Amino acid sequence: MSKTAKSEVRSRERARINTPTDLGDRAREDISGAVNALLADTFSLYLKTKNFHWHVSGPHFRDYHRLFDEQAAEILSMTDDLAERVRRLGGSTLRSIGHISRLQRSSDNDAEYVDPQDMLAELREDNQSLLARMREAHDLCDEHRDVATASILEEFINDAEKRAWFLFEASRSGGTMH
Ligand SMILES: [Fe+2]
Repeated sequence: MSKTAKSEVRSRERARINTPTDLGDRAREDISGAVNALLADTFSLYLKTKNFHWHVSGPHFRDYHRLFDEQAAEILSMTDDLAERVRRLGGSTLRSIGHISRLQRSSDNDAEYVDPQDMLAELREDNQSLLARMREAHDLCDEHRDVATASILEEFINDAEKRAWFLFEASRSGGTMH
């Protein structure tokens, strides 16, 4: 198949999954790009939080094990809303673990052992970075008057602030949570 024929097939395939939206091509491209990157960060934070849930040890095992599990569930629940929002905008979204690793801006932690206090601090920093990126994406939504994506992000911003707060409080003088 010639190069032109191949690119025609590709654009026909793309047209097949396009969704009608009144926000315009630029909004679709800009917001889809921002939300897909957030989605990759979200999957990465989900896995790190689960990683710490599985590997935490020490005197506060029960508290931290439970906190990380609750936070991981909340983070995972964001992913479907983000991905479907991109599809409603007419964009395409993530397709694989490889795709996530190409887009994620947050770093993984493959260390054999991580001190529980370092787990709390690292997750808090990651949640705060995610917060900053969600706020940037929210600004972009405002520019394009995309109130629907903005409203999804507002809820997630509130949740991430709460996670960062819990992680901060849990890390105070190695305190126990009740
Ligand atoms: Fe578990």
